[in-house]
Amino acid sequence: MADRPKRILLIVGGGIAAYKSCELVRLIRKGGGEVTCVLTEGGAKFVTPMTLAALSEKPVHTTLWDLKNEAEMGHIQLSREADLVVVCPATADLLAKMAAGVADDLATTLLLATDKPVLAVPAMNVRMWQHAATRRNVARLRGDGVTVMEPDEGPMACGEFGPGRLPEPEVVHAAIMRFVSADPLEGQPDFADDRHRGLHGRHVLVTAGPTHEPIDPVRYIANRSSGKQGFAIAAAAAEAGARVTLVAGPVHLDTPPGVDRVDVESAREMLAAVEAALPADVAIMVAAVADWRAADAAGQKIKKDGSGTVPPLALAENPDILATLARSKQRPALLVGFAAETENVIDHATAKRARKGADWIVANDVSGDVMGGDANSVHIVTASGSESWPAMAKHKVARALVDRIAKDIAK
Ligand code: C5P
Repeated sequence: MADRPKRILLIVGGGIAAYKSCELVRLIRKGGGEVTCVLTEGGAKFVTPMTLAALSEKPVHTTLWDLKNEAEMGHIQLSREADLVVVCPATADLLAKMAAGVADDLATTLLLATDKPVLAVPAMNVRMWQHAATRRNVARLRGDGVTVMEPDEGPMACGEFGPGRLPEPEVVHAAIMRFVSADPLEGQPDFADDRHRGLHGRHVLVTAGPTHEPIDPVRYIANRSSGKQGFAIAAAAAEAGARVTLVAGPVHLDTPPGVDRVDVESAREMLAAVEAALPADVAIMVAAVADWRAADAAGQKIKKDGSGTVPPLALAENPDILATLARSKQRPALLVGFAAETENVIDHATAKRARKGADWIVANDVSGDVMGGDANSVHIVTASGSESWPAMAKHKVARALVDRIAKDIAK
């Protein structure tokens, strides 16, 4: 049986780029999809309902207070009968409302009421895109599961230059197709188009997991790190187009697709593997490296002789891989460390950033069940201060971090 046409609910916000939504409607129709358009009040200043109705061959919805439609087809239904909700262009105002959960017109009400995936395609002035408020809103939306595409860079209608332009309709259409044809088990695609894969051509080095420090051939010193966060970061970097080397301590995790994995046991082996993987553009040191190892690991199993005498366990300090990399001639352009803390998280992370020579420290409070768990709540400490992200799944932290890294190294 042939698949039914994919249904797109297209919300057109109020920006000059709204004219490109007409072409997008045409492309969706040409590709065999159905599209229902919702125009915000601002959107209607740039394109008329008549244009979108003619191109989509469907009524265009503009107001929450259309009683006829409310009787025939409530706004809740409108928001749920689509396979995908696309906001294009997504203005700074619309992104802010979405992030805050405001529902004061038809478009925002639909966005709050929907149970379908949402793809937002931002378009705005470069300063507005780079403003801390928009950064915060985009990070929050991404954390909430909304896919926010990266805008294009180039000359803008307002005369300025930089990121903020709406991607071409073909690129948005390709993103929509990726979405609606995605395998539901695989989840939503991360990046709308190859041109938006922000780490393309970069080498990203990630360490993950604990280390095991042998005491004798059968015993070792370990910690509770599961490796989940580091593996999620390696996966997200690969999805963002990077070549990824993942140096992994002993963990029970599958290698993410497209990632080169090097398995190690001890801190010294991890350091050697990290050095062998250089040069790298970015290094993200997520591993919970043991601070100490047994000073003299025994070659044979240490025997309990029944005398009650306990063998001494002398410790030696392990090399600090992050600090070694920071001092290395081949220091990656962006060096990110992690810090697991149980108190004064940001203060300790700030001190750690300086002490180890990292560019950023991602600090997490491990006083709860972060180690081994699936969620994480992190603070990003950089030269310009700290930023706290809401608690989210480790794979979402990974995507948001990779996104921030891609933007940073593109500067
Ligand atoms: O000092 P602390 O272990 O809290 O520092 C954490 C950060 O340093 C993490 O990024 C971790 O991967 C890195 N680290 C390292 N080598 C060590 C200890 C920690 O690379 N020996």
